[in-house]
Amino acid sequence: MKNVLIIGAGGVGSVVAHKCALLKDIFSKIVLASRTKTKCDVIAGSVKQKTGVEILTNQVDADNPAEVVALIKKHNPFLVINVALPYQDLPIMDACLETKTHYLDTANYEPKDEAKFEYKWQWAYRDRFERAGIMALLGCGFDPGVTGVFTAYADKHHFDEIQYLDIVDCNAGDHGKAFATNFNPEINIREITQKGKYWENGKWIEVDPLSIHKPIEYPEIGKRESYLLFHEELESLTKNFPSIKRARFWMTFGQEYLTHLRVLQNVGMTSIKPIDFGGTKVVPLEFLKALLPEPSSLGENYKGKTSIGCQIKGIQGGKEKTYYIYNNCDHAMVFEEIGAQAVAYTTGVPAMIGAKMMIENKWMKSGVYNVEEFDPDPFMDDLNKFGLPWNELVNIELPH
Ligand SMILES: NC(=O)c1ccc[n+]([C@@H]2O[C@H](COP(=O)([O-])OP(=O)(O)OC[C@H]3O[C@@H](n4cnc5c(N)ncnc54)[C@H](OP(=O)(O)O)[C@@H]3O)[C@@H](O)[C@H]2O)c1
Repeated sequence: MKNVLIIGAGGVGSVVAHKCALLKDIFSKIVLASRTKTKCDVIAGSVKQKTGVEILTNQVDADNPAEVVALIKKHNPFLVINVALPYQDLPIMDACLETKTHYLDTANYEPKDEAKFEYKWQWAYRDRFERAGIMALLGCGFDPGVTGVFTAYADKHHFDEIQYLDIVDCNAGDHGKAFATNFNPEINIREITQKGKYWENGKWIEVDPLSIHKPIEYPEIGKRESYLLFHEELESLTKNFPSIKRARFWMTFGQEYLTHLRVLQNVGMTSIKPIDFGGTKVVPLEFLKALLPEPSSLGENYKGKTSIGCQIKGIQGGKEKTYYIYNNCDHAMVFEEIGAQAVAYTTGVPAMIGAKMMIENKWMKSGVYNVEEFDPDPFMDDLNKFGLPWNELVNIELPH
């Protein structure tokens, strides 16, 4: 049993807090801290009502390592679960180093003034974490996160050599709003509006944003137009599984969403360059975020499912094999369970499981790691136990 500090009281933070509270024999004391304390208190109220467990709340500006250090010293957690924004990854890792506290996140660092997410900044902490005798687990949401565990599981149980990997991410849900993003709008729009990129024959191929797309069939959902994006797990998976010849990431978007996005882009509302507005510096995308619905507020009346998985082709026993492993998650079911929507749920549950793996010493070694570097089996068992059951299809025709 260990203390845990969750930083970030958004859609994902709420799911992590609720799911940790259900495991009293693993998480002895839960502290939830964020920039706006009232959001932590609302979540604490819901956790108390749904699980009977009291969690502690705190205000913190996680851009400031000294504040995080003070918070860690106050509560003495075994690990910090960082589900604030990618900008806070490095300051929180610095605070963990100073206090010798383990670390976990769900999205890799990106600088605020440049929409460019890469692992190089966090991988550069590896030696320092090793020397301090602490562990950082990077990208432990669904994608990145479960997609890496799925790939490691496929590698362990189904292939001698993985050659082709397509990660396919569909949200076939309808929240009834004209335009909203399912996780932090600023991070989401930065991700989608940058150039697409995929790995082929040892190098990255860059393409214009959303320029490559095709209909992909999703289980229990049907065909949905899916767009090629760069996604951070492609960087770690191609490094950790060097036999991969091609790795791509696909995500579905509805026409209504894309039309709104195009208009917002055309009028400059998705820009991250500050403008002067009546003597005040305003970042258009940050302003847009303030207008859009909070991702955590979308759960009510959200209908339909998400379906995220890995479609893999490779060699086993000298023969070609295909393998598709996926999870489908129902928005209405997770709202019923903990008042969340499926995108936050599919991120928060794996973060809780990653923390559990570390506390149980099943995934624990000093240094900085991605999820696919550990034994996938105990994590896969817990996905089935804690709300994200997975399915597999072997030797079906894949759209390569
Ligand atoms: N791997 C995956 O599958 C996956 C999927 C979805 C999301 N994610 C990641 O999960 C994270 C959370 O997403 P979300 O949808 O929950 O976002 P969200 O609803 O916008 O919540 C983010 C929370 O972080 C807090 N925060 C922001 N800056 C902070 C700071 N300097 N100090 C302390 N707290 C701060 C925010 O506080 P305020 O309310 O005061 O702004 C907010 O409560 C993001 O990093 C996102 O990229 C990962």
